[in-house]
Amino acid sequence: MSKDPLVIFTPSGKRGNFAAGTPVLTAARQLGVDLDSVCGGRGICSKCQITPGFGEFPKHGLTVAKDALSGWNAVEERYDSIRGLKKGRRLGCQALIQKDIIIDVPAESQVHKQVIRKRAEARDITINPATRLFYVEVEQPDMHEPSGDLERLKAALADQWQLSNLVSNTAILQQIQPALRKGKWAVTCAIHEPTNKILHVWPGYFEGPLYGLAIDLGSTTIAAHLCDIYSGEVLASSGLMNPQIRFGEDLMSRVSYVMMNPGGDVEMTQAVREAINTLIQQIADEAEIDPQHIFEAVLVANPVMHHLFLGIDPVELGQAPFALATADSLTIPAVDLAINMHPQAHFYILPCIAGHVGADAAAVALSEEPDKSDDLVLIVDVGTNAEILLGNRERVLACSSPTGPAFEGAQISSGQRAAPGAIEKLRIDPITKEPRYRVIGSELWSDEKGFDTAILSSGITGICGSGIIEAVAEMRMAGLLDASGLIGSAAQTGTERCIVDGRTNSYVIFDGTANGGPLITVTNGDIRAIQLAKAALYAGARLLMDKFGVDTVDRVVLAGAFGAHISPLHAMVLGMIPDCPLEKVTSAGNAAGTGARIALLNLKARAEIEQTVRNIEKIETAVEPKFQQHFVEASSIPHATAPFPLLKTIASLPDVSFNTNSGDTGRRRRRR
Ligand code: FES
Repeated sequence: MSKDPLVIFTPSGKRGNFAAGTPVLTAARQLGVDLDSVCGGRGICSKCQITPGFGEFPKHGLTVAKDALSGWNAVEERYDSIRGLKKGRRLGCQALIQKDIIIDVPAESQVHKQVIRKRAEARDITINPATRLFYVEVEQPDMHEPSGDLERLKAALADQWQLSNLVSNTAILQQIQPALRKGKWAVTCAIHEPTNKILHVWPGYFEGPLYGLAIDLGSTTIAAHLCDIYSGEVLASSGLMNPQIRFGEDLMSRVSYVMMNPGGDVEMTQAVREAINTLIQQIADEAEIDPQHIFEAVLVANPVMHHLFLGIDPVELGQAPFALATADSLTIPAVDLAINMHPQAHFYILPCIAGHVGADAAAVALSEEPDKSDDLVLIVDVGTNAEILLGNRERVLACSSPTGPAFEGAQISSGQRAAPGAIEKLRIDPITKEPRYRVIGSELWSDEKGFDTAILSSGITGICGSGIIEAVAEMRMAGLLDASGLIGSAAQTGTERCIVDGRTNSYVIFDGTANGGPLITVTNGDIRAIQLAKAALYAGARLLMDKFGVDTVDRVVLAGAFGAHISPLHAMVLGMIPDCPLEKVTSAGNAAGTGARIALLNLKARAEIEQTVRNIEKIETAVEPKFQQHFVEASSIPHATAPFPLLKTIASLPDVSFNTNSGDTGRRRRRR
């Protein structure tokens, strides 16, 4: 048996024997223990902090003596006096092993730290940044052995950090000489691992931070998170409207704009890049940093946004066979995209899954990991174009479905975007047929004391996407709406809130006309728009279930900002999603944005999602004959043929049937 001291690292449990006098950092490296270092063991960076354990450790069968490590040295003394070392901590590069010892590596000293995600079912993010800092000491020039400063810097990086084949450009050449001399032949380099590029050289030791951006470029909004790519901390989040809206509300209208207006793609590329530059400045101001210190960005987008951001004409995406210019992931210098960050910064753009299923869906897959799920999960990213994933460990399928903007409150007579004044939640009493609702900007329900005062500043202005879904579902449960989507008359439903509106009826939610306010109703046209949207969504999901060979799913994840606000019960009453235990329907929030953040913080996750996307089976709804049949059947509320047995145990859906009301004499809608 070896007489060399035994070293056990926690929490990894890695252990080995090392000759007395070995630095703890060296032992950690040899055992593959995750212990950070930027300065290479020179006692400068303090990233290598460890906590030695002394005394009895029966679990390990070890007694650790007080002198198991060398004494506190001058380097640690100096560091402690200037910056302060936490009690019990040592610098792993300075403390030498003398006897058997237990060494704990605290979370902040691990290179691959975990960022804890709040949702119980979500995997934590492991930090493994693509751009990292390396401190090196470089040989001084020698007249007898002439060589360039860059060559000696590269030799030092190879020798001290085993980094080879590094690439540099003139910007680095311009930095090198002053940095080396100012740093007294020691510099810190930022190196981008995917491209092997030296991005920046600082004199002496530079401890960061290095910043990165995760950008979710949507058709309606652009959202960004600014992160410290070493700690994973989100320092600021910000968003703005996509200025391309002025060229068309939804994706296809933007593609049509390009088809009808030569050069329209260039205009839209310019608009979105300018918006991203504005967003970067906005977020940098908020975090009080210089955008020039942002070294990385990860962008996710649907295929049309992806192409327009890259300056690629999206016209091929508007017609079969919906060919992408490229489906692969991309690593591109930010300067090539005219984005203002550090001049050597890079964008990483996730791969697209198919012509209609973009890098945003790939990011959702990265965040929600259907490919690692034991049970069969249906993930729906609800937007103007729903992107749908279905799968488990065995296989994952993906498609998109053209839901249109109805779920966002567009094409709805009283619809509006989610903003103060919009009805976002609604309940209808099944007996009295009276509605009660909540308006964005107040936590109170309309029948609670203080409601009128609480909404005084905004008033009631309309109904947003989540509100219209709840309204339609509640109307169905209250017997005001039949399965085919017709609203009953006052005589048929027994409520004066059902008014005659042309040849059909509308349901009045709020009548503010006496005070010059709006008349907020759900019309049969609104029901029709919601039916089309929800039928498209369900048909896409059902098509994937057919391909998978199943009739049910184990759980449903609603992704997207909108998904976060949908009530699972109401979504199921509408028949937006397949029948499933209600507690198994969860919201993932902005999963595409989270996926972008994971790819920003973890280089390995990029390779993982590239492989996952290659394995995903792509289904094109436009060429699947069964899609149309599923769509027609799914137009009923909740469905013409699917029985929804679980839903029926928790919600009553009255068996009513209405006709259009020629000759009905009820209260009529006043045309505005
Ligand atoms: Fe940098 Fe120990 S490795 S201080």
